[in-house]
Amino acid sequence: MSVLSIQGLTRRFGGLVALNDIDLTVPERSIVGLIGPNGAGKSTLLNCLSGIYRPSAGKISFGGLDLVQTPTHRLASLGVARTFQNLELFGDATVRENVLVGCDYRFRSSLLSDLFAGPSARRAAREANKEVDRELAALGLLDVADTVVKDLSYGLQKRTELARALVGKPKLMLLDEPAAGANPTESHELGELIRRLRDERGVSVLLIEHDMPLVMGICDHVVVLDHGAKICEGEPAAVANDPRVVEAYLGEEGGDALH
Ligand SMILES: Nc1ncnc2c1ncn2[C@@H]1O[C@H](COP(=O)(O)OP(=O)(O)OP(=O)(O)O)[C@@H](O)[C@H]1O
Ligand SMILES: [Mg+2]
Repeated sequence: MSVLSIQGLTRRFGGLVALNDIDLTVPERSIVGLIGPNGAGKSTLLNCLSGIYRPSAGKISFGGLDLVQTPTHRLASLGVARTFQNLELFGDATVRENVLVGCDYRFRSSLLSDLFAGPSARRAAREANKEVDRELAALGLLDVADTVVKDLSYGLQKRTELARALVGKPKLMLLDEPAAGANPTESHELGELIRRLRDERGVSVLLIEHDMPLVMGICDHVVVLDHGAKICEGEPAAVANDPRVVEAYLGEEGGDALH
């Protein structure tokens, strides 16, 4: 069974074909890696999934639902959460406040009960705060819960964004370079965390990463894009040794980026 199924996805920007006829499947309870050199089209694919870009052609199905027709603001309630390559956090708000935004749709009470701060609104607020604390604890962020986000290290900001995505209890997580800026220890911890999301919460993950040890260590399946086209896919070890993939990365660090 697949959670996400993409068929023939194409996205053009003027004359540039950023994605060319891409097929991609994310099975239930799996981690699928999406790799490729800079400008390959990885973020564009995620942006098409989350409704930020409209595909020029193609179908995107999430559990049978047509994502192309689904407005971005409905995704969280449907079970799709994402993080961004360039963080999208409220820098002047605390970690807890940022994460609280992620469970907005789950604990929304009616406008009237909010206005009068009735029992149901208070109960909803209490529940939401409990969930946030649980998620902060799971991600090791309780110590910085009341710190303003812009005062945190980049790694902790990335983790905050992850907590905000997770608190909405997604079925599918779309992660755009979650390990960017992380040192090898942090990256390893992040890998363990993503693996636990799959194993303990049954979350499926589409993971964009340049950190190859992370990708090769945790992904069940890897898809490689280059210049908007899918050039290879398969098990991590096979993909890392595929001549087409090595060739695509040659322009980068002589192919060393893969190992
Ligand atoms: N809004 C846009 N308008 C015009 N061109 C765009 C736009 N967004 C992306 N592109 C182009 O599409 C191509 C793919 O970009 P994308 O950001 O998807 O690459 P990427 O694989 O995520 O790269 P990186 O690893 O550097 O993040 C690039 O050539 C980029 O310049
Ligand atoms: Mg990108």
